[in-house]
Amino acid sequence: MLRIGNMTMKFGGVIAVNQFDANIQKGEIVGLIGPNGAGKTTIFNVITGVYKPTEGNVVFSPNEEELDITGLRPDEIAKLGICRTFQNIRLFNELSVLDNVFIGNHLRLKSNIFSSVLRLPNYRKEEKEMYEKSLYLLEKVDLKDAMNEKAYSLPYGKQRRLEIARALATEPKLLLLDEPAAGMNPQETRELMDFIEEIKEEFDLTIFLIEHHMEVVMGISNKILVLDHGVLIAEGEPWEIQENERVIEAYLGVE
Ligand SMILES: Nc1ncnc2c1ncn2[C@@H]1O[C@H](COP(=O)(O)OP(=O)(O)OP(=O)(O)O)[C@@H](O)[C@H]1O
Ligand SMILES: [Mg+2]
Repeated sequence: MLRIGNMTMKFGGVIAVNQFDANIQKGEIVGLIGPNGAGKTTIFNVITGVYKPTEGNVVFSPNEEELDITGLRPDEIAKLGICRTFQNIRLFNELSVLDNVFIGNHLRLKSNIFSSVLRLPNYRKEEKEMYEKSLYLLEKVDLKDAMNEKAYSLPYGKQRRLEIARALATEPKLLLLDEPAAGMNPQETRELMDFIEEIKEEFDLTIFLIEHHMEVVMGISNKILVLDHGVLIAEGEPWEIQENERVIEAYLGVE
């Protein structure tokens, strides 16, 4: 589904990510962990076109064909089927919960601006479908009751779920989640784990997940990648990662 080859991202003199390689298979949940500042979010930013890598490439294979998406614009990459959520939640705060999801649908809109401004029948039909789809997604994330509230008025955990619902509205094949459990209490965190597995099945997703909550990553990932100071230091199944000395050192430091 996704192959990152020998990717380096420099910011001036700072090497945020150094010769990073990764392979994500269709249907997998892959975890990306590492201490603060290790370069995790930078990898997501490169995949989604926020940054063009200094070196290396990103290849996306939503179907049979391989698409080199290195350096494409974020909107082009989203259209191809990669969507993300942000470490610092980014919602349209002043809009309603429903409208936040509704906006996600626009990426798949077939009607042109002309028919939408004039509200021609083909647009109205699409709009109705988008509305129904948005309601369905809100029901999925258990936010239907809050659909008319402003996004900012929701508690943290619900805002995170709303962001995921908006991402799902773009119909991604690969979903990138940047610390979805941040700020959640243990109960919400457990629910989130079930939720991620559920949407993966229902929407036939592949998921790449950055997370500091170890019980989340260890609990749901098929494979884990560990980054430290921009370098991939380990890769394997959760049990292998837990026993890996370099990983333990990176997290706990060595005397
Ligand atoms: N736009 C930028 N300009 C300059 N330096 C940057 C930029 N983006 C990231 N960095 C630097 O790259 C390094 C990696 O940052 P990144 O945000 O990818 O880490 P992270 O693993 O996501 O950390 P955290 O767990 O705290 O979210 C840091 O040293 C950061 O300061
Ligand atoms: Mg980060």
